[in-house]
Amino acid sequence: MKFLFGTILVIIITAASFLEKPNPAFPLIPDGVKLNGAAVNDSSLKEAYRNDFLIGTALNASQIEGKDENAARLIPVQFNSITAENIMKCEVIQPGWNKYNFDLADKFVEYGQKHKMFIVGHTLIWHSQLSPFVKNIRNSDSLLLFMTNHINTVAGRYAGKVNSWDVVNEALNEDGSLRNSIFLEKLGEGYIRMAFELAAKAAPNTELYYNDYNIEQPAKRAGAIALIKKLKEAGVRIDGVGIQGHWSIQGPSLKDIENSIQEYSALGLKVSFTELDLTCLPNPWDLKGSDVNQNFEGSALMNPYPHGLPDSLQVKLAKCYEDLFKIFIKYKDKIERITFWGVNDGQSWLNNWPIKGRTNYPLLFDRNFKQKPAFGKVMALKDKQ
Ligand code: XIL
Repeated sequence: MKFLFGTILVIIITAASFLEKPNPAFPLIPDGVKLNGAAVNDSSLKEAYRNDFLIGTALNASQIEGKDENAARLIPVQFNSITAENIMKCEVIQPGWNKYNFDLADKFVEYGQKHKMFIVGHTLIWHSQLSPFVKNIRNSDSLLLFMTNHINTVAGRYAGKVNSWDVVNEALNEDGSLRNSIFLEKLGEGYIRMAFELAAKAAPNTELYYNDYNIEQPAKRAGAIALIKKLKEAGVRIDGVGIQGHWSIQGPSLKDIENSIQEYSALGLKVSFTELDLTCLPNPWDLKGSDVNQNFEGSALMNPYPHGLPDSLQVKLAKCYEDLFKIFIKYKDKIERITFWGVNDGQSWLNNWPIKGRTNYPLLFDRNFKQKPAFGKVMALKDKQ
Protein backbone atom coordinates (compact mmCIF):
# COMPACT_ATOMS: atom_id res chain seq x y z
CA MET A 1 0.00 0.00 0.00
CA LYS A 2 2.77 2.36 1.11
CA PHE A 3 4.72 1.40 -2.00
CA LEU A 4 1.70 1.96 -4.25
CA PHE A 5 1.05 5.36 -2.67
CA GLY A 6 4.69 6.30 -3.12
CA THR A 7 4.70 5.20 -6.75
CA ILE A 8 1.54 7.18 -7.49
CA LEU A 9 3.04 10.23 -5.80
CA VAL A 10 6.19 9.98 -7.88
CA ILE A 11 4.11 9.66 -11.06
CA ILE A 12 2.02 12.70 -10.11
CA ILE A 13 5.08 14.79 -9.26
CA THR A 14 6.87 13.76 -12.45
CA ALA A 15 3.81 14.49 -14.56
CA ALA A 16 3.26 17.83 -12.85
CA SER A 17 6.86 18.89 -13.23
CA PHE A 18 6.73 17.87 -16.88
CA LEU A 19 3.57 19.87 -17.45
CA GLU A 20 4.94 22.87 -15.61
CA LYS A 21 8.34 22.79 -17.21
CA PRO A 22 8.95 26.29 -18.58
CA ASN A 23 8.71 26.14 -22.31
CA PRO A 24 11.82 27.97 -23.43
CA ALA A 25 10.00 28.82 -26.60
CA PHE A 26 7.28 30.72 -24.74
CA PRO A 27 8.61 33.91 -23.26
CA LEU A 28 5.38 35.75 -22.57
CA ILE A 29 5.47 35.62 -18.81
CA PRO A 30 3.71 38.42 -16.96
CA ASP A 31 5.79 40.35 -14.44
CA GLY A 32 6.18 38.69 -11.08
CA VAL A 33 4.90 35.28 -12.16
CA LYS A 34 7.03 32.30 -11.21
CA LEU A 35 7.35 29.29 -13.45
CA ASN A 36 8.13 25.93 -11.94
CA GLY A 37 9.56 27.61 -8.87
CA ALA A 38 12.01 29.63 -10.94
CA ALA A 39 11.99 33.40 -10.68
CA VAL A 40 10.80 35.33 -13.68
CA ASN A 41 14.33 36.59 -14.25
CA ASP A 42 15.12 33.14 -15.65
CA SER A 43 13.24 34.35 -18.70
CA SER A 44 13.57 38.10 -18.58
CA LEU A 45 16.52 39.94 -20.05
CA LYS A 46 15.94 43.10 -18.04
CA GLU A 47 15.74 41.12 -14.80
CA ALA A 48 18.79 39.02 -15.56
CA TYR A 49 20.86 42.13 -16.33
CA ARG A 50 19.27 44.49 -13.81
CA ASN A 51 22.51 45.00 -11.89
CA ASP A 52 24.59 45.49 -15.04
CA PHE A 53 22.93 47.81 -17.56
CA LEU A 54 19.58 48.69 -19.06
CA ILE A 55 18.15 46.43 -21.74
CA GLY A 56 16.23 48.33 -24.36
CA THR A 57 14.32 47.94 -27.57
CA ALA A 58 13.25 50.24 -30.37
CA LEU A 59 9.49 50.65 -30.69
CA ASN A 60 7.53 51.19 -33.89
CA ALA A 61 4.16 52.94 -34.11
CA SER A 62 2.01 49.84 -33.76
CA GLN A 63 3.91 48.74 -30.67
CA ILE A 64 3.58 52.19 -29.12
CA GLU A 65 -0.16 52.10 -29.72
CA GLY A 66 -0.42 48.59 -28.30
CA LYS A 67 -1.90 47.26 -31.54
CA ASP A 68 0.30 44.20 -31.50
CA GLU A 69 -0.91 42.06 -28.60
CA ASN A 70 2.06 39.72 -28.43
CA ALA A 71 4.50 42.61 -28.48
CA ALA A 72 2.45 44.38 -25.82
CA ARG A 73 2.86 41.40 -23.50
CA LEU A 74 6.51 40.77 -24.23
CA ILE A 75 8.00 44.27 -24.18
CA PRO A 76 7.44 45.18 -20.52
CA VAL A 77 8.67 41.75 -19.40
CA GLN A 78 11.91 41.85 -21.35
CA PHE A 79 12.92 45.51 -21.63
CA ASN A 80 13.36 48.44 -19.26
CA SER A 81 14.30 51.02 -21.87
CA ILE A 82 12.65 52.13 -25.11
CA THR A 83 13.86 54.15 -28.08
CA ALA A 84 11.58 55.69 -30.70
CA GLU A 85 12.49 53.83 -33.89
CA ASN A 86 11.06 56.48 -36.24
CA ILE A 87 8.38 58.63 -34.68
CA MET A 88 10.63 61.31 -33.16
CA LYS A 89 12.58 61.83 -36.36
CA CYS A 90 12.19 65.17 -38.10
CA GLU A 91 10.01 63.91 -40.98
CA VAL A 92 7.41 62.67 -38.50
CA ILE A 93 7.59 65.15 -35.64
CA GLN A 94 7.97 68.38 -37.67
CA PRO A 95 6.57 67.55 -41.13
CA GLY A 96 6.18 71.20 -42.12
CA TRP A 97 7.86 74.44 -41.05
CA ASN A 98 6.74 75.01 -37.46
CA LYS A 99 4.04 72.31 -37.87
CA TYR A 100 4.57 69.70 -35.23
CA ASN A 101 2.96 66.31 -34.88
CA PHE A 102 3.40 65.08 -31.31
CA ASP A 103 0.68 62.46 -31.36
CA LEU A 104 2.84 59.33 -31.44
CA ALA A 105 5.74 60.87 -29.55
CA ASP A 106 3.40 61.74 -26.66
CA LYS A 107 2.07 58.17 -26.67
CA PHE A 108 5.61 56.81 -26.74
CA VAL A 109 6.58 58.85 -23.69
CA GLU A 110 3.37 57.89 -21.86
CA TYR A 111 4.09 54.24 -22.62
CA GLY A 112 7.56 54.52 -21.11
CA GLN A 113 6.29 56.35 -18.06
CA LYS A 114 3.52 53.81 -17.51
CA HIS A 115 6.02 50.96 -17.52
CA LYS A 116 8.68 52.93 -15.59
CA MET A 117 11.12 52.61 -18.46
CA PHE A 118 14.21 54.61 -19.38
CA ILE A 119 13.04 56.68 -22.34
CA VAL A 120 15.38 57.49 -25.22
CA GLY A 121 14.56 60.22 -27.73
CA HIS A 122 15.91 59.51 -31.21
CA THR A 123 16.98 61.82 -32.74
CA LEU A 124 17.24 65.62 -32.87
CA ILE A 125 19.75 66.40 -35.64
CA TRP A 126 20.33 63.87 -38.43
CA HIS A 127 20.87 64.24 -42.16
CA SER A 128 18.43 61.43 -42.91
CA GLN A 129 14.62 61.25 -42.63
CA LEU A 130 14.48 65.04 -42.72
CA SER A 131 11.21 66.68 -43.75
CA PRO A 132 11.23 67.91 -47.35
CA PHE A 133 10.98 71.54 -46.22
CA VAL A 134 14.32 71.23 -44.40
CA LYS A 135 16.04 69.81 -47.46
CA ASN A 136 14.77 72.80 -49.40
CA ILE A 137 16.14 75.43 -47.01
CA ARG A 138 18.53 77.58 -49.01
CA ASN A 139 20.19 79.95 -46.55
CA SER A 140 22.08 79.36 -43.34
CA ASP A 141 20.01 81.73 -41.19
CA SER A 142 16.85 79.77 -41.96
CA LEU A 143 18.59 76.48 -41.26
CA LEU A 144 19.86 77.79 -37.94
CA LEU A 145 16.36 78.99 -37.12
CA PHE A 146 14.98 75.54 -37.97
CA MET A 147 17.56 73.82 -35.80
CA THR A 148 16.99 76.17 -32.87
CA ASN A 149 13.21 75.88 -33.01
CA HIS A 150 13.28 72.15 -33.57
CA ILE A 151 15.50 71.40 -30.59
CA ASN A 152 13.82 73.93 -28.31
CA THR A 153 10.36 72.65 -29.15
CA VAL A 154 10.98 68.90 -29.24
CA ALA A 155 13.56 68.52 -26.47
CA GLY A 156 11.73 71.20 -24.45
CA ARG A 157 8.37 69.42 -24.66
CA TYR A 158 9.81 66.22 -23.21
CA ALA A 159 12.21 67.81 -20.72
CA GLY A 160 12.07 65.81 -17.51
CA LYS A 161 10.32 62.96 -19.33
CA VAL A 162 12.78 61.71 -21.92
CA ASN A 163 15.83 60.38 -20.06
CA SER A 164 18.32 60.56 -22.89
CA TRP A 165 18.49 62.22 -26.29
CA ASP A 166 20.50 61.17 -29.30
CA VAL A 167 21.29 64.81 -29.99
CA VAL A 168 23.31 64.36 -33.15
CA ASN A 169 23.17 61.18 -35.21
CA GLU A 170 25.67 59.93 -37.78
CA ALA A 171 27.72 63.07 -38.35
CA LEU A 172 30.86 61.20 -39.40
CA ASN A 173 32.23 59.47 -42.49
CA GLU A 174 33.97 56.12 -42.34
CA ASP A 175 37.39 57.79 -42.37
CA GLY A 176 36.47 59.88 -39.34
CA SER A 177 35.95 63.14 -41.22
CA LEU A 178 32.69 65.08 -40.94
CA ARG A 179 29.87 63.87 -43.16
CA ASN A 180 28.79 66.27 -45.83
CA SER A 181 25.21 67.14 -44.89
CA ILE A 182 22.97 70.16 -45.23
CA PHE A 183 23.98 71.06 -41.66
CA LEU A 184 27.71 70.96 -42.35
CA GLU A 185 27.29 72.69 -45.67
CA LYS A 186 25.25 75.62 -44.36
CA LEU A 187 26.37 75.96 -40.73
CA GLY A 188 29.90 74.59 -40.73
CA GLU A 189 31.23 72.13 -38.18
CA GLY A 190 29.95 74.31 -35.33
CA TYR A 191 26.46 72.91 -35.93
CA ILE A 192 27.27 69.94 -33.70
CA ARG A 193 28.32 72.15 -30.81
CA MET A 194 25.24 74.33 -31.31
CA ALA A 195 22.95 71.29 -31.29
CA PHE A 196 24.38 70.08 -27.98
CA GLU A 197 24.19 73.55 -26.44
CA LEU A 198 20.56 73.96 -27.49
CA ALA A 199 19.66 70.52 -26.18
CA ALA A 200 21.42 71.17 -22.87
CA LYS A 201 19.36 74.33 -22.40
CA ALA A 202 16.06 72.85 -23.51
CA ALA A 203 16.41 69.63 -21.51
CA PRO A 204 18.79 70.32 -18.65
CA ASN A 205 18.25 67.02 -16.84
CA THR A 206 18.35 64.79 -19.87
CA GLU A 207 21.43 62.86 -20.90
CA LEU A 208 22.91 64.02 -24.18
CA TYR A 209 24.44 61.45 -26.53
CA TYR A 210 26.37 61.44 -29.78
CA ASN A 211 25.16 58.38 -31.74
CA ASP A 212 26.70 56.74 -34.81
CA TYR A 213 27.42 53.43 -36.55
CA ASN A 214 30.85 51.88 -37.06
CA ILE A 215 32.37 54.19 -34.47
CA GLU A 216 33.92 51.12 -32.90
CA GLN A 217 36.14 50.85 -35.96
CA PRO A 218 39.52 52.55 -35.62
CA ALA A 219 39.39 55.35 -38.21
CA LYS A 220 35.84 56.41 -37.49
CA ARG A 221 36.46 56.00 -33.75
CA ALA A 222 39.40 58.40 -33.96
CA GLY A 223 37.10 60.93 -35.65
CA ALA A 224 34.45 60.49 -32.97
CA ILE A 225 37.00 60.90 -30.20
CA ALA A 226 38.37 64.08 -31.81
CA LEU A 227 34.83 65.42 -32.12
CA ILE A 228 33.96 64.64 -28.50
CA LYS A 229 37.22 66.16 -27.24
CA LYS A 230 36.49 69.37 -29.15
CA LEU A 231 33.02 69.56 -27.64
CA LYS A 232 34.39 69.02 -24.16
CA GLU A 233 37.15 71.58 -24.64
CA ALA A 234 34.50 74.08 -25.70
CA GLY A 235 32.72 73.41 -22.41
CA VAL A 236 29.76 71.72 -24.07
CA ARG A 237 27.89 69.06 -22.13
CA ILE A 238 27.96 65.61 -23.69
CA ASP A 239 27.15 62.65 -21.46
CA GLY A 240 27.42 59.61 -23.62
CA VAL A 241 28.35 57.97 -26.86
CA GLY A 242 26.02 55.56 -28.61
CA ILE A 243 27.64 52.85 -30.68
CA GLN A 244 24.76 51.71 -32.86
CA GLY A 245 25.87 48.09 -33.27
CA HIS A 246 24.37 47.19 -36.66
CA TRP A 247 26.68 44.23 -37.09
CA SER A 248 26.58 40.82 -38.68
CA ILE A 249 27.05 37.15 -37.82
CA GLN A 250 30.31 37.38 -39.72
CA GLY A 251 31.29 38.90 -36.44
CA PRO A 252 32.18 42.44 -35.53
CA SER A 253 35.71 42.75 -34.22
CA LEU A 254 35.46 42.10 -30.52
CA LYS A 255 38.82 43.77 -29.97
CA ASP A 256 37.56 46.96 -31.65
CA ILE A 257 34.50 46.89 -29.42
CA GLU A 258 36.58 46.48 -26.26
CA ASN A 259 38.97 49.23 -27.31
CA SER A 260 36.04 51.51 -28.02
CA ILE A 261 34.44 50.98 -24.63
CA GLN A 262 37.76 51.75 -22.97
CA GLU A 263 38.58 54.78 -25.09
CA TYR A 264 35.17 56.43 -24.97
CA SER A 265 34.75 55.88 -21.26
CA ALA A 266 38.25 57.30 -20.70
CA LEU A 267 36.79 60.58 -22.01
CA GLY A 268 34.40 60.52 -19.07
CA LEU A 269 31.43 59.41 -21.18
CA LYS A 270 28.85 56.72 -20.66
CA VAL A 271 28.85 54.12 -23.41
CA SER A 272 25.71 52.51 -24.79
CA PHE A 273 25.06 50.09 -27.61
CA THR A 274 22.02 51.77 -29.00
CA GLU A 275 20.76 49.86 -32.04
CA LEU A 276 22.02 46.31 -31.71
CA ASP A 277 21.18 43.74 -34.39
CA LEU A 278 23.20 41.14 -36.29
CA THR A 279 22.29 40.56 -39.91
CA CYS A 280 22.34 36.93 -41.04
CA LEU A 281 22.11 37.72 -44.76
CA PRO A 282 24.65 38.44 -47.46
CA ASN A 283 25.67 42.06 -47.67
CA PRO A 284 25.71 43.62 -51.15
CA TRP A 285 28.87 45.54 -50.23
CA ASP A 286 30.69 42.26 -49.56
CA LEU A 287 30.15 40.92 -53.06
CA LYS A 288 33.48 41.73 -54.55
CA GLY A 289 33.24 43.23 -57.97
CA SER A 290 29.50 43.69 -57.65
CA ASP A 291 27.84 46.95 -58.42
CA VAL A 292 26.20 48.10 -55.20
CA ASN A 293 23.74 50.13 -57.19
CA GLN A 294 22.56 46.97 -58.85
CA ASN A 295 18.99 46.13 -57.94
CA PHE A 296 19.05 43.03 -55.75
CA GLU A 297 15.35 43.13 -54.93
CA GLY A 298 13.87 39.69 -55.52
CA SER A 299 17.29 38.08 -55.92
CA ALA A 300 17.24 34.59 -54.37
CA LEU A 301 21.01 34.77 -53.96
CA MET A 302 20.64 37.73 -51.64
CA ASN A 303 17.68 36.24 -49.77
CA PRO A 304 18.86 32.70 -49.11
CA TYR A 305 16.71 31.74 -46.08
CA PRO A 306 13.13 32.82 -46.79
CA HIS A 307 11.71 29.81 -44.90
CA GLY A 308 13.93 29.73 -41.82
CA LEU A 309 17.49 30.15 -40.68
CA PRO A 310 19.59 26.97 -41.02
CA ASP A 311 20.62 25.48 -37.66
CA SER A 312 24.30 26.11 -38.28
CA LEU A 313 23.63 29.84 -38.65
CA GLN A 314 21.28 29.87 -35.69
CA VAL A 315 24.20 28.54 -33.65
CA LYS A 316 26.55 31.10 -35.16
CA LEU A 317 24.17 33.93 -34.31
CA ALA A 318 23.85 32.65 -30.74
CA LYS A 319 27.63 32.46 -30.36
CA CYS A 320 28.03 36.01 -31.68
CA TYR A 321 25.52 37.35 -29.17
CA GLU A 322 27.19 35.34 -26.41
CA ASP A 323 30.61 36.78 -27.27
CA LEU A 324 29.21 40.31 -27.35
CA PHE A 325 27.43 40.00 -24.02
CA LYS A 326 30.58 38.58 -22.42
CA ILE A 327 32.27 41.86 -23.30
CA PHE A 328 29.29 43.91 -22.19
CA ILE A 329 29.34 42.15 -18.81
CA LYS A 330 33.09 42.65 -18.48
CA TYR A 331 32.62 46.42 -18.92
CA LYS A 332 29.27 46.73 -17.18
CA ASP A 333 30.48 49.61 -15.02
CA LYS A 334 31.11 51.66 -18.18
CA ILE A 335 27.99 50.65 -20.09
CA GLU A 336 24.67 52.33 -19.50
CA ARG A 337 22.40 50.49 -21.91
CA ILE A 338 22.15 47.78 -24.55
CA THR A 339 19.25 48.47 -26.89
CA PHE A 340 18.11 46.02 -29.57
CA TRP A 341 16.89 47.64 -32.78
CA GLY A 342 13.45 46.08 -32.73
CA VAL A 343 11.50 43.54 -30.73
CA ASN A 344 11.43 40.55 -33.05
CA ASP A 345 12.87 39.37 -36.35
CA GLY A 346 9.68 40.03 -38.28
CA GLN A 347 9.71 43.72 -37.36
CA SER A 348 13.36 44.39 -37.96
CA TRP A 349 14.30 47.10 -40.45
CA LEU A 350 16.91 44.63 -41.77
CA ASN A 351 14.17 42.80 -43.69
CA ASN A 352 14.07 45.87 -45.92
CA TRP A 353 17.55 47.32 -45.73
CA PRO A 354 19.84 47.46 -47.61
CA ILE A 355 17.65 45.35 -49.90
CA LYS A 356 13.85 45.36 -49.74
CA GLY A 357 11.73 42.30 -49.07
CA ARG A 358 14.20 39.88 -47.52
CA THR A 359 13.78 37.54 -44.55
CA ASN A 360 16.35 38.33 -41.90
CA TYR A 361 16.97 36.95 -38.38
CA PRO A 362 18.94 39.57 -36.45
CA LEU A 363 17.31 39.67 -33.00
CA LEU A 364 16.72 37.46 -29.94
CA PHE A 365 13.02 36.78 -30.60
CA ASP A 366 11.71 35.11 -33.74
CA ARG A 367 8.71 36.11 -35.82
CA ASN A 368 6.36 34.40 -33.37
CA PHE A 369 7.98 36.17 -30.40
CA LYS A 370 9.63 32.92 -29.36
CA GLN A 371 13.01 33.03 -27.71
CA LYS A 372 15.77 31.98 -30.08
CA PRO A 373 18.90 30.03 -29.10
CA ALA A 374 20.71 33.40 -28.97
CA PHE A 375 18.33 34.48 -26.19
CA GLY A 376 19.27 31.33 -24.26
CA LYS A 377 22.99 32.05 -24.63
CA VAL A 378 22.61 35.65 -23.44
CA MET A 379 20.57 34.50 -20.42
CA ALA A 380 22.93 31.61 -19.65
CA LEU A 381 25.82 34.03 -19.15
CA LYS A 382 24.01 35.38 -16.10
CA ASP A 383 23.24 31.89 -14.73
CA LYS A 384 26.94 31.17 -14.60
CA GLN A 385 27.74 34.20 -12.45
C1 XIL B 1 15.84 52.98 -39.34
C2 XIL B 1 14.48 52.42 -38.98
O1 XIL B 1 14.65 51.23 -38.25
C3 XIL B 1 13.68 52.16 -40.25
O2 XIL B 1 12.35 51.76 -39.93
C4 XIL B 1 13.65 53.39 -41.13
O3 XIL B 1 13.00 53.10 -42.34
C5 XIL B 1 15.06 53.91 -41.40
O4 XIL B 1 15.73 54.11 -40.16
N1 XIL B 1 20.56 54.23 -37.84
C6 XIL B 1 19.67 54.95 -37.08
C7 XIL B 1 18.24 54.56 -37.07
O5 XIL B 1 20.08 55.85 -36.32
O6 XIL B 1 17.39 55.67 -36.91
C8 XIL B 1 17.85 53.81 -38.32
O7 XIL B 1 16.51 53.35 -38.15
C9 XIL B 1 18.81 52.67 -38.56
C10 XIL B 1 20.21 53.19 -38.76
